[in-house]
Amino acid sequence: MTAENLDPGVAPLPRPDTATLDAALRERVAALSLAEKVRLLTGTDFWSIDPEPKAGLRRYVVSDGPVGVRGERWDDRDPSANIPSPTAVAASWDEDLVTRLGALLAAESRRKGVDVLLAPTINLHRTPVGGRHFECFSEDPLLTGRVAAAYVHGLQANGVAACVKHFVGNDQEAERMTADNRIDEQTLRELYLAPFEHVEEFARPWSYMAAYNQVNGTTMTENDLLDDVLKGDWGSDALVMSDWFATRSTEAAGNAGLDLAMPGPVGPWGAALVEAVEAGRVPEAKVDEKVLRLLRLAARTGAVDGVDAGTQPSAPVFDAGTHEARVEALTREAAAAGFVLVKNSGVLPLAQDVRSVAVVGPNALRGRTLGGGSATVFPASVVHPVEGLLAGLAGVEVRHSLGVSSTDRVPPADIGTLHLPDASEDGIELTFVGRDGQVLSTERRRTGAYTWMGVVGEDTPISSLGHIVARGTLTATSNGAYRIGASGIGSVSVTVDGEQVAATTLVPRPGADIVESFMMPPQAIAEVALGEGGTADVEIRFTPGSLDQPLVAFQVNVAPPRGTDDEEIAAAVALARSSDAAVVVVGTTEEVESEGYDRTSLALPGRQDDLVRAVLAANPNTVVVVNSGAPVLMPWLDDARAVLLAWFPGQQMGAALADVLSGAVEPGGRMPTTWPAPGGVVAPESDPVDGVVEYTEGLDIGYRRCARDGITPAVPFGHGLGYTTWELGAPREVDGGVAVRVTNTGTRDGAHVVQAYLSRPGSAVRRPVLWLAGFTKVRVPAGGSAEAVVALPERAFQHWDAAAHAFVTEPGEFTLTVGSSAADPAHTLPLKK
Ligand code: BGC
Repeated sequence: MTAENLDPGVAPLPRPDTATLDAALRERVAALSLAEKVRLLTGTDFWSIDPEPKAGLRRYVVSDGPVGVRGERWDDRDPSANIPSPTAVAASWDEDLVTRLGALLAAESRRKGVDVLLAPTINLHRTPVGGRHFECFSEDPLLTGRVAAAYVHGLQANGVAACVKHFVGNDQEAERMTADNRIDEQTLRELYLAPFEHVEEFARPWSYMAAYNQVNGTTMTENDLLDDVLKGDWGSDALVMSDWFATRSTEAAGNAGLDLAMPGPVGPWGAALVEAVEAGRVPEAKVDEKVLRLLRLAARTGAVDGVDAGTQPSAPVFDAGTHEARVEALTREAAAAGFVLVKNSGVLPLAQDVRSVAVVGPNALRGRTLGGGSATVFPASVVHPVEGLLAGLAGVEVRHSLGVSSTDRVPPADIGTLHLPDASEDGIELTFVGRDGQVLSTERRRTGAYTWMGVVGEDTPISSLGHIVARGTLTATSNGAYRIGASGIGSVSVTVDGEQVAATTLVPRPGADIVESFMMPPQAIAEVALGEGGTADVEIRFTPGSLDQPLVAFQVNVAPPRGTDDEEIAAAVALARSSDAAVVVVGTTEEVESEGYDRTSLALPGRQDDLVRAVLAANPNTVVVVNSGAPVLMPWLDDARAVLLAWFPGQQMGAALADVLSGAVEPGGRMPTTWPAPGGVVAPESDPVDGVVEYTEGLDIGYRRCARDGITPAVPFGHGLGYTTWELGAPREVDGGVAVRVTNTGTRDGAHVVQAYLSRPGSAVRRPVLWLAGFTKVRVPAGGSAEAVVALPERAFQHWDAAAHAFVTEPGEFTLTVGSSAADPAHTLPLKK
């Protein structure tokens, strides 16, 4: 029988020869005055750099990344495709799929006029409590590096630049702007720098982002790692831009490997850098080098007239006629490919005789498709779980019940919640009023979440804004207490049917990160009793508290009546009992997983564990679906017969769920990171003490730590079931790796990830107990078998020798383990070096 080996081959990408391009660009640099050159090294605004006709440079635009392409507007007026979040993408272990996702994002970038996508994020899952864990791929440097290289390749082969971030050590959110992460040299090279090195060698990114934090005493925008390692040892010819507002000095950053300070227009470079060059404190050659790198990046994305970097595809990468269908199909495929089926004793796929399904849980009606922070995009439409199952489970009665509330926060008004004051259509009317009381402009918006950067309304500078008035009419769909209000930093007054129901001044939580202040601002909420079919005119006046930063975030929040958790659990149990099967969709909330703060607990928020236990007791034919980007504790795991980790699966969440529950598609994911068991949480210290985080665990994070300390996790790294069964034969050494016979012993076609781990008993150097050395994904038809080849590059055997400052191989015997997870030593093979 034949099979398709999905490993695209582990081949480094030769460094492009830029001699001719650089010669042409150097002439452009030479034609600019010092002030003109320095002007190019700070953003003109949040996301762009103004044109420089003398260098042939057109306006240049960057945008977040990584779950979609936001574009210059951050709201629903300019929607974006929402692919699964990075943990979900990595869970596919499928570089071909990831390359196609990168290509889709390139098409989105072109559609939205974006040249550089601020992605992928390749910091490691050092700790499961990291708030931004969902935005990074994995706890393993090899899986991270390979998935990242595929993502970058998909983008850049289509002429759009990646900006690989955050270089380096941005592994937690606590005090992320200042924390000094102390990492020994071996650990830095073998873990945290390793994915960056891999992506540099295999995909040659055109830009990188320097992180906010310090590493070993120096902030990353001034750190020697930029010039010595990234541009030195690895020879990267990319541009390095700062994370937003991370440039802190004129000279130190000017003399370091940082090329572009973002955002602008103000920052520590500009006139101060011109002066520093004139005074001889920063060599002009250093400025020229930065401008050259900027022009090289721009040329590669086709933004410099009259030079050909040889990187632009011959055909346009965005096709308006097919784009929407392509987005829908690929986001649906990718979501299912990342779903990890943790256990399944005969529940999935749902049996033919299942005629009714109870779908319960706070994330069932409204799933989370992405995590919070700069990665947030606004998709044009989302298929939520209930909606997806209603459409996708043919002939099955699908009924829904809330189950419990996972948060007391009131969400922004969704599309269709409010209609415009003239009652003609859905939406909210916003009026921007100047400091002098004059109306500046008005705008009609579909949802209640707004973030403005630089300008509001029709190009009104934020600095001239006095206040904003939002108006809309709510039509009640049920009887009871509606929660109505607003969120922001500033003063808020909420009026319902002409009566003021809330008025207060909202201030940020002490110590809140800037991202928290605009993604999850404090709320002023009032309860208003409404009868079904009744209407209420809502008017909110919001005066921003401070306009020091050119940023305003404001939300109009509305939530329908809800029962107490006990009432909701009882209703869910009754529904589950009277259905043939139950699906419980639980998950995290925006308070728990976001950029800007870490998690304080891995438990599911609210009483979701109680809900799961109650539904499992009411109907054993239950599938628990966990909708989170990062690990949560599953204290009910032993009692559940089927558990599916959906991650933050992007805009086709519900459709993909229907595909997998019905059996039309098998869940394709394998764990990209270890999920701890209650009582066995492995979380190295990540809260800075006096500003310092010591990476004392060294090389042992995730599965490596479990192996060292004999900890049994809830779900091991690499684990995941499909809808067929597998047998792996004994590995055999072949040129460049090992060959393994993979037999599909079941009755369905399927795909499997063959994983190879190395260990080195009796090593004379510090090493983990085991580490991932290679993997390959194979597709094998039912009853068939195939020979899978797992490549094992020399680097897989090497360790960093801090005395020699080099990767070296310790001669002797290694042990190779081949299996289906880090905890599955199916076969071992001694390998001599
Ligand atoms: C984030 C970056 C992001 C940038 C621009 C920062 O706060 O750390 O990942 O690209 O903002 O939104």
